Amino acid sequence: METISLNNVNFSYPGGNKALENINFQVSAGERVAVLGANGAGKSTLFQLFNGLLTPSSGEVKINGLPVEKKNYKTIRRMVGMVFQDPDDQLFSPTVKQELSYGLVNLGAPAGSIEKSVKWALQVVGLEGYEDKNPCYLSGGEKKRVALASVLVMRPEVLVLDEPTAALDPRGVAQLIALLNEINHNLHITLVFSSHDVDMVPLLADRIYVMNQGKIALSGMTREVFSEVDLIRENNLRLPRVAHLTEILRKDGMKGSLPLPLTIGQARETMRQIRETD
Ligand SMILES: Nc1ncnc2c1ncn2[C@@H]1O[C@H](COP(=O)(O)OP(=O)(O)O)[C@@H](O)[C@H]1O
Ligand SMILES: [Mg+2]
Repeated sequence: METISLNNVNFSYPGGNKALENINFQVSAGERVAVLGANGAGKSTLFQLFNGLLTPSSGEVKINGLPVEKKNYKTIRRMVGMVFQDPDDQLFSPTVKQELSYGLVNLGAPAGSIEKSVKWALQVVGLEGYEDKNPCYLSGGEKKRVALASVLVMRPEVLVLDEPTAALDPRGVAQLIALLNEINHNLHITLVFSSHDVDMVPLLADRIYVMNQGKIALSGMTREVFSEVDLIRENNLRLPRVAHLTEILRKDGMKGSLPLPLTIGQARETMRQIRETD
């Protein structure tokens, strides 16, 4: 059974703005799936269907086989942890500890276990000792990690992250990518994230859906999707820089017929193979 499954989903905002058209979208347990698309493509709208923040105009949305409808919201919102693009939309408590305890207190969890869970979640995101800090006064990267911890503390099966690296500095981006990969690998949490930053995608996604004007324009394994060079551009995206450079060098006569490298690590391997055949 798919962890997330959308079949023939349409969605229009009140006023008639058709934001999603005939969406078929599946995510399996343990996968790392990227949703790429230019601004306005429909990524944030899509994500809000996963836990019932928005309801489709037609079609079905299921989480672990459960239809996303009112009677299942409670169960589904525990399974699907949503990290918003702007942490200021997510964080509302005066201390980090209260922020992270909120959902567990509502579930009636005992105080001792809440304390343990909060400590665990802060440790996972690398913010040990932040319990008494006010989220308002943290840096952008720290806020993002508190928002992530406040979702992780509920032990979701799936983490859905809307533009997780937007507004982070380069070091923050690298740290977040490493952290999300650890969370996926060590805690077996499925990842779904949106982005228009194609350089980070090969480091964090097994599979990609490309959206354009409310439709799924292209999907497949990361390498397959980025080998569709023309389609990538037609859908208002670009290649990762490393792939673009390799494409230019090949046009200039550089040898090599291997797939375009997508990361610096892959480019290094490609260059090594060229040197060895010289
Ligand atoms: N609250 C809203 N009311 C009306 N239209 C909206 C609303 N939010 C988004 N839209 C429209 O829906 C489309 C998809 O937007 P969105 O899902 O935010 O795209 P993305 O996250 O890919 O940038 C856009 O045309 C956008 O203008
Ligand atoms: Mg968005």
